[in-house]
Amino acid sequence: MPHDALSGRPRVRPDAAPPPVPAPAAPSPGAQPPIGTPPIGTPSTGHPLIGMFDHELQAPLSILLELTRRCNLHCRHCFSNSGAQDQTPELSTQEWFAVIDRLAAHGVFLIFFGGGEPLCRTDLPAIAERARGHGMDLCLLSNLTPVTPAIARRLKDIGFYKVEGNLDGATAEVYEALRVTPGSFARSLAGIRNCVEVGLPLRINCTLTRLNAEHMEAVAALACDLGVTDLAFLRLIEAGRGGDNFDSLDVGEAVYRAELLPRLKALRQAYAGHMDIGYEQDEEIIRACDPNQMMPWCGAGRIHCTVTPDGKVKPDHSFPDDDPRVVAGNVRERDIIDIWRTAPLFQTLRHTRFARCARCRHVACTGGDAFRIYTHYGAVMGGPDPRCLEMEATDA
Ligand SMILES: C[S@@+](CC[C@H](N)C(=O)[O-])C[C@H]1O[C@@H](n2cnc3c(N)ncnc32)[C@H](O)[C@@H]1O
Ligand code: SF4
Repeated sequence: MPHDALSGRPRVRPDAAPPPVPAPAAPSPGAQPPIGTPPIGTPSTGHPLIGMFDHELQAPLSILLELTRRCNLHCRHCFSNSGAQDQTPELSTQEWFAVIDRLAAHGVFLIFFGGGEPLCRTDLPAIAERARGHGMDLCLLSNLTPVTPAIARRLKDIGFYKVEGNLDGATAEVYEALRVTPGSFARSLAGIRNCVEVGLPLRINCTLTRLNAEHMEAVAALACDLGVTDLAFLRLIEAGRGGDNFDSLDVGEAVYRAELLPRLKALRQAYAGHMDIGYEQDEEIIRACDPNQMMPWCGAGRIHCTVTPDGKVKPDHSFPDDDPRVVAGNVRERDIIDIWRTAPLFQTLRHTRFARCARCRHVACTGGDAFRIYTHYGAVMGGPDPRCLEMEATDA
Protein backbone atom coordinates (compact mmCIF):
# COMPACT_ATOMS: atom_id res chain seq x y z
CA MET A 1 0.00 0.00 0.00
CA PRO A 2 1.46 3.39 -0.93
CA HIS A 3 2.26 5.68 1.97
CA ASP A 4 2.09 9.42 1.78
CA ALA A 5 5.63 10.77 1.65
CA LEU A 6 5.04 13.40 4.26
CA SER A 7 2.63 11.90 6.72
CA GLY A 8 3.68 8.31 6.17
CA ARG A 9 0.01 7.45 6.13
CA PRO A 10 -1.53 5.08 3.63
CA ARG A 11 -3.04 6.66 0.56
CA VAL A 12 -5.95 4.70 -0.87
CA ARG A 13 -8.64 5.63 -3.33
CA PRO A 14 -11.87 5.94 -1.32
CA ASP A 15 -13.84 4.52 -4.22
CA ALA A 16 -11.47 1.64 -4.89
CA ALA A 17 -12.69 -1.88 -4.31
CA PRO A 18 -11.20 -3.30 -1.11
CA PRO A 19 -8.20 -5.49 -1.83
CA PRO A 20 -8.92 -9.21 -1.99
CA VAL A 21 -8.03 -11.06 1.18
CA PRO A 22 -5.49 -13.70 0.19
CA ALA A 23 -5.93 -17.20 1.51
CA PRO A 24 -3.20 -17.98 4.03
CA ALA A 25 -0.36 -19.78 2.27
CA ALA A 26 1.05 -22.93 3.77
CA PRO A 27 4.54 -22.06 5.08
CA SER A 28 7.36 -23.84 3.33
CA PRO A 29 9.69 -25.82 5.59
CA GLY A 30 12.27 -23.55 7.21
CA ALA A 31 10.66 -20.39 5.80
CA GLN A 32 11.19 -17.25 7.91
CA PRO A 33 8.13 -15.12 8.61
CA PRO A 34 8.29 -11.60 7.17
CA ILE A 35 9.49 -8.91 9.55
CA GLY A 36 6.69 -7.85 11.84
CA THR A 37 4.68 -11.05 11.49
CA PRO A 38 3.74 -12.54 14.83
CA PRO A 39 5.15 -16.05 15.26
CA ILE A 40 2.42 -18.61 14.62
CA GLY A 41 0.64 -19.50 17.82
CA THR A 42 1.88 -16.46 19.71
CA PRO A 43 -0.90 -14.60 21.49
CA SER A 44 -1.01 -11.06 20.12
CA THR A 45 -3.45 -8.38 19.23
CA GLY A 46 -4.79 -10.82 16.66
CA HIS A 47 -3.99 -8.31 13.95
CA PRO A 48 -0.61 -8.72 12.27
CA LEU A 49 0.00 -5.03 11.71
CA ILE A 50 3.54 -4.27 10.73
CA GLY A 51 5.79 -2.39 13.09
CA MET A 52 3.65 -1.94 16.15
CA PHE A 53 3.12 -3.11 19.69
CA ASP A 54 4.45 -6.63 20.29
CA HIS A 55 6.27 -6.93 16.99
CA GLU A 56 8.55 -4.03 16.25
CA LEU A 57 10.51 -3.49 13.07
CA GLN A 58 14.24 -3.91 13.64
CA ALA A 59 14.86 -1.00 11.28
CA PRO A 60 12.58 1.60 9.66
CA LEU A 61 11.12 0.72 6.28
CA SER A 62 11.80 4.22 5.01
CA ILE A 63 13.50 7.32 6.34
CA LEU A 64 13.50 11.04 5.63
CA LEU A 65 16.98 12.58 5.62
CA GLU A 66 16.63 16.34 5.97
CA LEU A 67 19.96 17.42 4.52
CA THR A 68 19.68 21.13 5.31
CA ARG A 69 17.45 23.84 6.74
CA ARG A 70 18.80 26.26 4.14
CA CYS A 71 16.34 27.23 1.45
CA ASN A 72 16.17 29.71 -1.41
CA LEU A 73 12.53 30.43 -0.48
CA HIS A 74 10.95 31.50 2.79
CA CYS A 75 7.41 30.14 2.67
CA ARG A 76 4.81 31.28 5.17
CA HIS A 77 3.71 27.72 5.89
CA CYS A 78 7.13 26.01 6.15
CA PHE A 79 6.95 23.36 8.87
CA SER A 80 10.73 23.15 9.08
CA ASN A 81 11.33 26.91 9.54
CA SER A 82 13.77 26.83 6.64
CA GLY A 83 15.34 29.87 5.02
CA ALA A 84 18.42 31.43 3.46
CA GLN A 85 20.06 32.44 6.74
CA ASP A 86 19.85 29.12 8.51
CA GLN A 87 22.96 28.27 10.54
CA THR A 88 22.19 24.67 11.57
CA PRO A 89 25.51 22.78 11.87
CA GLU A 90 24.86 20.23 9.14
CA LEU A 91 26.17 16.68 8.99
CA SER A 92 29.10 16.44 6.58
CA THR A 93 29.06 14.33 3.43
CA GLN A 94 31.01 11.62 5.25
CA GLU A 95 28.62 11.66 8.20
CA TRP A 96 25.66 11.17 5.84
CA PHE A 97 27.54 8.37 4.10
CA ALA A 98 27.97 6.61 7.47
CA VAL A 99 24.28 6.94 8.28
CA ILE A 100 23.29 5.63 4.84
CA ASP A 101 25.67 2.69 5.09
CA ARG A 102 24.15 1.65 8.42
CA LEU A 103 20.61 1.99 7.09
CA ALA A 104 21.46 -0.06 4.02
CA ALA A 105 23.09 -2.76 6.14
CA HIS A 106 19.80 -3.14 8.01
CA GLY A 107 17.55 -3.35 4.99
CA VAL A 108 16.09 0.15 4.87
CA PHE A 109 15.03 0.38 1.26
CA LEU A 110 13.52 3.82 0.73
CA ILE A 111 15.15 7.19 1.40
CA PHE A 112 13.47 10.56 1.07
CA PHE A 113 15.86 13.49 0.76
CA GLY A 114 14.28 16.67 2.08
CA GLY A 115 15.04 19.88 3.87
CA GLY A 116 14.87 22.82 3.58
CA GLU A 117 15.78 22.71 -0.03
CA PRO A 118 18.03 19.66 -0.46
CA LEU A 119 19.43 21.06 -3.72
CA CYS A 120 21.12 23.79 -1.63
CA ARG A 121 23.64 21.04 -0.77
CA THR A 122 26.11 20.68 -3.58
CA ASP A 123 26.93 17.17 -2.32
CA LEU A 124 23.34 15.96 -2.80
CA PRO A 125 24.32 13.94 -5.92
CA ALA A 126 27.18 12.25 -4.04
CA ILE A 127 24.99 11.41 -1.05
CA ALA A 128 22.20 10.12 -3.30
CA GLU A 129 24.64 8.03 -5.33
CA ARG A 130 25.94 6.45 -2.14
CA ALA A 131 22.41 5.31 -1.28
CA ARG A 132 21.63 4.23 -4.84
CA GLY A 133 24.85 2.22 -4.81
CA HIS A 134 23.33 0.17 -2.01
CA GLY A 135 20.26 -0.40 -4.18
CA MET A 136 18.03 1.88 -2.12
CA ASP A 137 15.08 3.67 -3.73
CA LEU A 138 15.35 7.45 -3.67
CA CYS A 139 12.77 10.23 -3.63
CA LEU A 140 13.65 13.94 -3.65
CA LEU A 141 11.45 16.54 -1.90
CA SER A 142 12.32 19.85 -3.56
CA ASN A 143 10.60 23.12 -4.38
CA LEU A 144 12.03 22.46 -7.89
CA THR A 145 12.93 26.13 -8.47
CA PRO A 146 16.65 25.21 -8.79
CA VAL A 147 15.98 22.38 -11.26
CA THR A 148 17.53 23.30 -14.61
CA PRO A 149 17.47 20.84 -17.54
CA ALA A 150 20.98 19.70 -16.52
CA ILE A 151 19.98 19.09 -12.89
CA ALA A 152 16.87 17.19 -14.00
CA ARG A 153 19.05 15.00 -16.21
CA ARG A 154 21.47 14.40 -13.33
CA LEU A 155 18.68 13.38 -10.98
CA LYS A 156 17.35 11.00 -13.61
CA ASP A 157 20.81 9.51 -14.16
CA ILE A 158 21.38 9.01 -10.42
CA GLY A 159 18.22 6.93 -10.45
CA PHE A 160 15.70 8.87 -8.36
CA TYR A 161 12.49 6.92 -8.70
CA LYS A 162 10.45 10.01 -7.87
CA VAL A 163 10.71 13.74 -7.31
CA GLU A 164 8.14 15.70 -5.31
CA GLY A 165 7.52 19.36 -6.06
CA ASN A 166 4.62 21.66 -5.46
CA LEU A 167 2.02 23.90 -7.04
CA ASP A 168 0.40 25.93 -4.28
CA GLY A 169 -1.45 28.02 -6.82
CA ALA A 170 -2.10 28.23 -10.55
CA THR A 171 -0.96 31.84 -10.86
CA ALA A 172 2.06 33.74 -9.58
CA GLU A 173 -0.22 35.84 -7.41
CA VAL A 174 -1.70 32.89 -5.51
CA TYR A 175 1.49 30.80 -5.41
CA GLU A 176 3.69 33.63 -4.19
CA ALA A 177 1.17 34.71 -1.54
CA LEU A 178 2.34 31.57 0.28
CA ARG A 179 5.85 31.10 -1.14
CA VAL A 180 6.60 34.82 -0.76
CA THR A 181 9.66 34.98 -3.08
CA PRO A 182 8.97 36.94 -6.30
CA GLY A 183 9.62 34.87 -9.42
CA SER A 184 9.33 31.54 -7.56
CA PHE A 185 6.16 30.53 -9.43
CA ALA A 186 7.80 30.82 -12.84
CA ARG A 187 10.92 28.98 -11.64
CA SER A 188 8.81 26.22 -10.08
CA LEU A 189 6.93 25.75 -13.39
CA ALA A 190 10.26 25.58 -15.24
CA GLY A 191 11.54 22.96 -12.76
CA ILE A 192 8.40 20.87 -13.22
CA ARG A 193 8.71 21.07 -17.01
CA ASN A 194 12.39 20.09 -16.85
CA CYS A 195 11.57 17.00 -14.77
CA VAL A 196 8.74 15.99 -17.13
CA GLU A 197 11.07 16.53 -20.10
CA VAL A 198 13.61 13.94 -18.90
CA GLY A 199 10.93 11.50 -17.75
CA LEU A 200 11.45 11.87 -14.00
CA PRO A 201 8.31 10.59 -12.25
CA LEU A 202 6.81 13.53 -10.40
CA ARG A 203 4.43 14.01 -7.58
CA ILE A 204 3.15 17.54 -7.14
CA ASN A 205 1.81 18.70 -3.77
CA CYS A 206 -0.55 21.55 -3.10
CA THR A 207 -0.85 22.50 0.56
CA LEU A 208 -4.42 23.70 1.04
CA THR A 209 -4.73 27.06 2.79
CA ARG A 210 -7.18 29.93 2.83
CA LEU A 211 -5.00 31.52 0.16
CA ASN A 212 -5.49 28.83 -2.46
CA ALA A 213 -8.48 26.63 -1.52
CA GLU A 214 -10.79 28.36 -3.95
CA HIS A 215 -8.28 27.75 -6.75
CA MET A 216 -7.75 24.02 -6.41
CA GLU A 217 -9.59 23.21 -9.64
CA ALA A 218 -7.23 25.60 -11.46
CA VAL A 219 -4.23 23.92 -9.79
CA ALA A 220 -5.43 20.52 -11.02
CA ALA A 221 -5.95 21.84 -14.55
CA LEU A 222 -2.47 23.39 -14.64
CA ALA A 223 -0.83 20.27 -13.23
CA CYS A 224 -2.51 18.11 -15.85
CA ASP A 225 -1.46 20.53 -18.64
CA LEU A 226 2.12 20.28 -17.39
CA GLY A 227 2.04 16.49 -17.74
CA VAL A 228 1.79 15.70 -14.03
CA THR A 229 0.15 12.35 -13.32
CA ASP A 230 0.24 12.40 -9.49
CA LEU A 231 -1.18 15.38 -7.61
CA ALA A 232 -1.74 15.50 -3.85
CA PHE A 233 -3.65 18.10 -1.87
CA LEU A 234 -2.16 18.30 1.64
CA ARG A 235 -3.65 19.69 4.83
CA LEU A 236 -1.61 22.33 6.63
CA ILE A 237 0.58 20.90 9.40
CA GLU A 238 0.61 23.02 12.55
CA ALA A 239 4.39 23.13 12.84
CA GLY A 240 7.18 25.66 12.29
CA ARG A 241 5.91 28.74 10.43
CA GLY A 242 2.86 26.64 9.53
CA GLY A 243 2.14 26.64 13.27
CA ASP A 244 2.90 30.35 13.74
CA ASN A 245 0.53 31.23 10.87
CA PHE A 246 -1.96 28.43 11.42
CA ASP A 247 -4.94 30.58 12.40
CA SER A 248 -4.64 32.82 9.38
CA LEU A 249 -3.81 30.02 6.89
CA ASP A 250 -5.72 26.88 7.85
CA VAL A 251 -9.05 26.26 6.17
CA GLY A 252 -10.53 24.68 9.32
CA GLU A 253 -11.95 21.22 9.86
CA ALA A 254 -15.57 22.11 9.15
CA VAL A 255 -14.78 23.82 5.84
CA TYR A 256 -12.47 21.00 4.81
CA ARG A 257 -15.07 18.30 5.44
CA ALA A 258 -18.16 20.13 4.21
CA GLU A 259 -16.82 22.13 1.28
CA LEU A 260 -13.39 20.97 0.17
CA LEU A 261 -13.76 17.18 0.46
CA PRO A 262 -16.72 17.03 -1.98
CA ARG A 263 -14.79 19.18 -4.45
CA LEU A 264 -11.70 17.00 -4.04
CA LYS A 265 -13.76 13.85 -4.67
CA ALA A 266 -15.26 15.43 -7.79
CA LEU A 267 -11.78 16.42 -9.01
CA ARG A 268 -10.50 12.90 -8.47
CA GLN A 269 -13.33 11.53 -10.58
CA ALA A 270 -12.92 14.17 -13.27
CA TYR A 271 -9.22 13.32 -13.76
CA ALA A 272 -9.51 9.53 -13.31
CA GLY A 273 -7.32 7.80 -15.86
CA HIS A 274 -5.27 10.96 -16.51
CA MET A 275 -3.96 12.11 -13.17
CA ASP A 276 -4.18 10.50 -9.75
CA ILE A 277 -5.43 12.98 -7.17
CA GLY A 278 -4.75 12.28 -3.51
CA TYR A 279 -6.02 14.09 -0.45
CA GLU A 280 -6.30 13.55 3.26
CA GLN A 281 -9.02 11.05 3.94
CA ASP A 282 -7.61 9.15 6.86
CA GLU A 283 -10.91 8.46 8.58
CA GLU A 284 -12.47 7.03 5.44
CA ILE A 285 -9.47 4.80 4.84
CA ILE A 286 -9.46 3.40 8.32
CA ARG A 287 -13.18 2.78 8.22
CA ALA A 288 -13.10 1.15 4.79
CA CYS A 289 -10.05 -1.07 4.99
CA ASP A 290 -9.57 -4.51 6.29
CA PRO A 291 -7.27 -3.89 9.28
CA ASN A 292 -5.34 -7.03 8.51
CA GLN A 293 -4.31 -5.54 5.20
CA MET A 294 -2.90 -2.35 6.64
CA MET A 295 0.23 -0.99 8.16
CA PRO A 296 -0.27 1.33 11.13
CA TRP A 297 -2.00 4.51 10.14
CA CYS A 298 0.55 6.70 11.88
CA GLY A 299 4.04 5.46 11.03
CA ALA A 300 5.99 7.94 13.17
CA GLY A 301 8.67 6.01 15.03
CA ARG A 302 6.90 2.79 14.07
CA ILE A 303 7.63 2.35 10.37
CA HIS A 304 9.64 5.44 9.54
CA CYS A 305 11.57 8.27 11.15
CA THR A 306 13.40 11.47 10.23
CA VAL A 307 17.00 12.64 10.64
CA THR A 308 17.45 16.42 10.89
CA PRO A 309 20.35 18.30 9.23
CA ASP A 310 22.31 18.21 12.51
CA GLY A 311 21.72 14.54 13.15
CA LYS A 312 18.71 14.46 15.47
CA VAL A 313 16.43 11.47 15.04
CA LYS A 314 12.73 12.36 15.28
CA PRO A 315 9.56 10.29 14.85
CA ASP A 316 8.72 12.27 11.73
CA HIS A 317 9.24 15.64 10.08
CA SER A 318 6.37 17.39 11.87
CA PHE A 319 7.91 17.23 15.34
CA PRO A 320 10.04 20.25 16.33
CA ASP A 321 13.83 20.00 16.44
CA ASP A 322 14.10 21.97 19.67
CA ASP A 323 11.95 19.91 22.05
CA PRO A 324 14.23 17.24 23.58
CA ARG A 325 11.15 15.16 24.45
CA VAL A 326 10.58 14.40 20.76
CA VAL A 327 14.20 13.74 19.84
CA ALA A 328 15.12 10.05 20.13
CA GLY A 329 18.88 10.59 19.84
CA ASN A 330 21.57 12.02 17.59
CA VAL A 331 23.49 10.09 14.96
CA ARG A 332 26.60 12.08 15.92
CA GLU A 333 26.49 10.34 19.30
CA ARG A 334 24.75 7.02 18.71
CA ASP A 335 24.18 4.52 15.98
CA ILE A 336 20.98 5.17 14.02
CA ILE A 337 19.81 1.55 14.26
CA ASP A 338 20.49 1.48 18.00
CA ILE A 339 18.43 4.66 18.39
CA TRP A 340 15.60 3.14 16.32
CA ARG A 341 15.52 -0.02 18.42
CA THR A 342 16.00 1.27 21.94
CA ALA A 343 15.09 4.97 22.27
CA PRO A 344 12.50 5.37 25.04
CA LEU A 345 10.64 7.89 22.84
CA PHE A 346 10.10 5.27 20.14
CA GLN A 347 9.12 2.66 22.72
CA THR A 348 6.48 5.08 24.02
CA LEU A 349 5.14 5.64 20.52
CA ARG A 350 4.99 1.92 19.81
CA HIS A 351 3.62 0.64 23.09
CA THR A 352 1.27 3.25 24.52
CA ARG A 353 -2.30 2.03 24.44
CA PHE A 354 -5.23 3.99 25.74
CA ALA A 355 -8.02 2.17 27.57
CA ARG A 356 -10.46 3.36 24.93
CA CYS A 357 -8.46 1.58 22.22
CA ALA A 358 -8.47 -1.86 23.86
CA ARG A 359 -11.52 -3.20 22.06
CA CYS A 360 -11.64 -0.75 19.20
CA ARG A 361 -12.44 -2.18 15.77
CA HIS A 362 -10.30 0.43 13.96
CA VAL A 363 -7.19 -1.60 14.61
CA ALA A 364 -4.98 0.15 12.07
CA CYS A 365 -5.48 3.42 13.91
CA THR A 366 -2.93 2.24 16.53
CA GLY A 367 -3.90 4.92 19.01
CA GLY A 368 -4.12 7.84 16.63
CA ASP A 369 -1.92 10.47 15.05
CA ALA A 370 1.20 10.89 17.19
CA PHE A 371 1.89 14.49 16.14
CA ARG A 372 -1.73 15.59 16.64
CA ILE A 373 -1.67 14.00 20.11
CA TYR A 374 1.61 15.76 20.91
CA THR A 375 0.31 19.17 19.81
CA HIS A 376 -3.03 18.71 21.56
CA TYR A 377 -1.72 17.52 24.94
CA GLY A 378 1.79 18.97 24.81
CA ALA A 379 3.10 15.49 25.60
CA VAL A 380 4.13 12.43 23.60
CA MET A 381 1.13 10.07 23.50
CA GLY A 382 -0.29 12.29 26.24
CA GLY A 383 -3.85 11.08 25.70
CA PRO A 384 -6.25 9.65 23.16
CA ASP A 385 -6.29 11.26 19.73
CA PRO A 386 -8.57 14.31 19.90
CA ARG A 387 -10.04 13.11 16.59
CA CYS A 388 -10.62 9.52 17.81
CA LEU A 389 -12.91 7.75 15.34
CA GLU A 390 -14.58 5.61 17.94
CA MET A 391 -15.47 8.62 20.03
CA GLU A 392 -16.88 10.37 16.99
CA ALA A 393 -19.03 7.32 16.27
CA THR A 394 -20.26 7.21 19.89
CA ASP A 395 -21.00 10.91 19.93
CA ALA A 396 -22.81 10.82 16.59
C1 LIG B 1 9.30 20.88 3.74
S1 LIG B 1 9.09 20.83 2.05
C2 LIG B 1 10.66 20.36 1.52
C3 LIG B 1 10.79 20.35 0.04
C4 LIG B 1 10.76 21.69 -0.64
N1 LIG B 1 11.57 22.67 -0.06
C5 LIG B 1 9.36 22.18 -0.89
O1 LIG B 1 8.89 23.13 -0.28
O2 LIG B 1 8.68 21.56 -1.73
C6 LIG B 1 8.12 19.41 1.57
C7 LIG B 1 6.65 19.68 1.30
O3 LIG B 1 6.01 20.06 2.50
C8 LIG B 1 5.12 21.09 2.24
N2 LIG B 1 4.94 21.84 3.47
C9 LIG B 1 5.78 22.70 4.05
N3 LIG B 1 5.27 23.16 5.20
C10 LIG B 1 4.06 22.56 5.36
C11 LIG B 1 3.06 22.62 6.34
N4 LIG B 1 3.16 23.39 7.42
N5 LIG B 1 1.95 21.84 6.17
C12 LIG B 1 1.82 21.04 5.10
N6 LIG B 1 2.75 20.95 4.12
C13 LIG B 1 3.86 21.69 4.24
C14 LIG B 1 5.76 21.86 1.13
O4 LIG B 1 4.84 22.68 0.45
C15 LIG B 1 6.30 20.75 0.29
O5 LIG B 1 5.31 20.28 -0.60
S1 SF4 C 1 8.32 24.93 2.42
FE1 SF4 C 1 10.04 24.13 1.22
S2 SF4 C 1 10.52 25.79 -0.19
FE2 SF4 C 1 9.32 26.69 1.42
S3 SF4 C 1 10.79 27.49 2.92
FE3 SF4 C 1 10.19 25.41 3.58
S4 SF4 C 1 11.71 24.09 2.70
FE4 SF4 C 1 11.83 26.04 1.59
